[in-house]
Amino acid sequence: MERVTVALGSRSYPIWVGSGLLERAANWVAPLLKRRRLFVVTDQTVALAQLPRLAAGLSSGGVECIPLVLEPGERTKSFAQFESLLNQLLHLGVERSDVLAALGGGVIGDLTGFAASVLRRGVDFVQIPTTLLAQVDSSVGGKTGINTQQGKNLVGTFHQPRLVLADRDSLQTLPDRQRKAGYAEVVKYGLIDDRSFFEWLEANGASVLSLEPSAYMHGVVSSCRAKARIVAEDERESGRRALLNLGHTFGHALEAANGFGDALLHGEAVAIGMVLAFDFSVRLGICPAEDSSRVRAHLSQVGLPVDLRGAPGVRNDARQLVQAMGQDKKVIAGKLHFILTRGIGKAFTAADVALDELEAFLEAQLKG
Ligand SMILES: NC(=O)c1ccc[n+]([C@@H]2O[C@H](COP(=O)([O-])OP(=O)(O)OC[C@H]3O[C@@H](n4cnc5c(N)ncnc54)[C@H](O)[C@@H]3O)[C@@H](O)[C@H]2O)c1
Ligand SMILES: [Zn+2]
Repeated sequence: MERVTVALGSRSYPIWVGSGLLERAANWVAPLLKRRRLFVVTDQTVALAQLPRLAAGLSSGGVECIPLVLEPGERTKSFAQFESLLNQLLHLGVERSDVLAALGGGVIGDLTGFAASVLRRGVDFVQIPTTLLAQVDSSVGGKTGINTQQGKNLVGTFHQPRLVLADRDSLQTLPDRQRKAGYAEVVKYGLIDDRSFFEWLEANGASVLSLEPSAYMHGVVSSCRAKARIVAEDERESGRRALLNLGHTFGHALEAANGFGDALLHGEAVAIGMVLAFDFSVRLGICPAEDSSRVRAHLSQVGLPVDLRGAPGVRNDARQLVQAMGQDKKVIAGKLHFILTRGIGKAFTAADVALDELEAFLEAQLKG
């Protein structure tokens, strides 16, 4: 078991990474509770696969587990589900001093965190991520939110959890495709500013995906450290934290084009988006083509999609994609702030990306 700290002064919190954590959850959770009960928000799939482990762990530590079970899938991150969750929690009599737990992937984590941030003007919550994506990314850093018709994550808050429990065993039931999607975010940390981590992943990515214990620990702990460091430097994303959006402006446009459906998972969209960010950087003459090929080769080798052409929901319409990108939160004073790269481990924010150049690039990509 390893501990990574997210250093945010009085709001600092630990991320515990290891095995068998759900069975021992009461050890970490009980000290946060005034009443020995925990409201556990989860989805139907996770309720079957992992909730029994957590409920047993809580109960053996004398903590009552009160589950709230939602529909699985990205569409659960909606106003309708947000309202319904708040109503259910109020109906159950949640008090200001109660604690919520998000047991699930990024969808449950983002929705529960958002609900916690506004329920009775803010209650504490803990993250118990059960997807690789949530363990290395969404459970850490305090970004919460839901999607709207206009796009992803456009409504939300910053609300840090008190604790994150990333349990390797909980990934045993996670389908292969979901593991791979989460792995895209692991690769992202190497691409942002850690070339040697990317090289380690080229050699060990398959072992991370098969949950080989030491590879899992190194992959997840390194990712959590990277995220914790960036969040501690720039909690509210006024600067460096934006680097975590590498591949995401493209990726979010792809998710929107697909109507947030299951045909394209967030991590899959990010994989395509990261390759696009590299290829676009190559086209701008700032990134070696060799680095871009290497990124494409690694993502594709582990079985992630890397091509814009043929991505679900993408029509042959570069302008539509550019418009979707304009809805992303990265537009400041009408200019698209975009993460570009000078090579593997050398991402940076460009404040003045020309939209016509972007459109021409996407047009060329769509032609193949
Ligand atoms: N807040 C942030 O900083 C941040 C960062 C990255 C991504 N996100 C968000 O995270 C979301 C994606 O998260 P995700 O990929 O975890 O998706 P998800 O929450 O939809 O989970 C993926 C699927 O796996 C199932 N599942 C989860 N854990 C399981 C397990 N242990 N065994 C079997 N099935 C399991 C779920 O039921 C779901 O169907 C997106 O909405 C994205 O915007 C947020
Ligand atoms: Zn992401």
